[in-house]
Amino acid sequence: MRTGRTRRGSLRNRRSFSPSCMNRPYRELAVMYDEMVGQTAFECWRDLFEQIRSREGLRFEVAADIACGTGLAAAYLSGMCSKVYAVDISPEMLKVARARAGAEGIVFLERSMTDFQLPERVDLLTCNFDSMNYLLEEDEIRAALDCFARALKDGGYCLFDLNTTREFEVEWGTSVFVHRVSNGIGLWETEWDPSTRINTLRMTNFIKARNGLYRMSEETHRERSYDVEFVLRACRDCGLSRVEAYDAKGLTGIDRETRRVQFVARKQGFGRHSR
Ligand SMILES: C[S@@+](CC[C@H](N)C(=O)[O-])C[C@H]1O[C@@H](n2cnc3c(N)ncnc32)[C@H](O)[C@@H]1O
Repeated sequence: MRTGRTRRGSLRNRRSFSPSCMNRPYRELAVMYDEMVGQTAFECWRDLFEQIRSREGLRFEVAADIACGTGLAAAYLSGMCSKVYAVDISPEMLKVARARAGAEGIVFLERSMTDFQLPERVDLLTCNFDSMNYLLEEDEIRAALDCFARALKDGGYCLFDLNTTREFEVEWGTSVFVHRVSNGIGLWETEWDPSTRINTLRMTNFIKARNGLYRMSEETHRERSYDVEFVLRACRDCGLSRVEAYDAKGLTGIDRETRRVQFVARKQGFGRHSR
């Protein structure tokens, strides 16, 4: 979850963070998210989605965006089908999403992607911008994919992405990023642990209040990378039987330089997983 206008430096004299002053991820970031990273991420996703849509001849009447964040993708999807469900674990991100123009017809649900059920099955399910990297255990990835498969109609499409080790190790690394936006400033410190494959992103955000003063808040975001083979296997085990993995940059084959993997999976209507 790192994009947009940043200034990067090396990390020296790291100060330690006390867990007691940390907020849940997105609790405070939500109000600055779109300007810092969300809008840029959405525009990249929209281009990729349109490529997949035309390549697969995707048609859908009912869709769901899981880990919807501030609702940009959900609002986009709602402009092209009759019903959209949007799920996220963060009440603050959902609050921003609900207030968005174009969100009026969307049904928002505050749930974890590892444990949710939709009121009806959908033709298309998306989960974008490294949201699944927030799941730190293999069992959580399996649980999420199982929920995704259960939420889909037979033949329905599931599109999700994951950041790779390459992205965390080389592109994020152990460094400092500064984001400046109209309503605040963020100082983000990342740390990559190759033994756990977890990237820890410690954010100190200064949010501009109405009185012009800045309020400081701190959040810790943890993301883990997974082997593509593991994810492909987990998809098939959950009944997402036709699954392909592409480099998200251009929908080409994956190689050592791939920073984000775009998965395109389809639920087939046969076998023991046909529900
Ligand atoms: C990097 S943001 C991506 C948001 C949005 N998909 C986008 O493209 O801008 C990650 C999102 O995942 C959500 N998230 C993290 N863990 C989650 C979980 N277990 N269940 C549902 N949402 C989760 C966060 O609240 C956040 O909104």
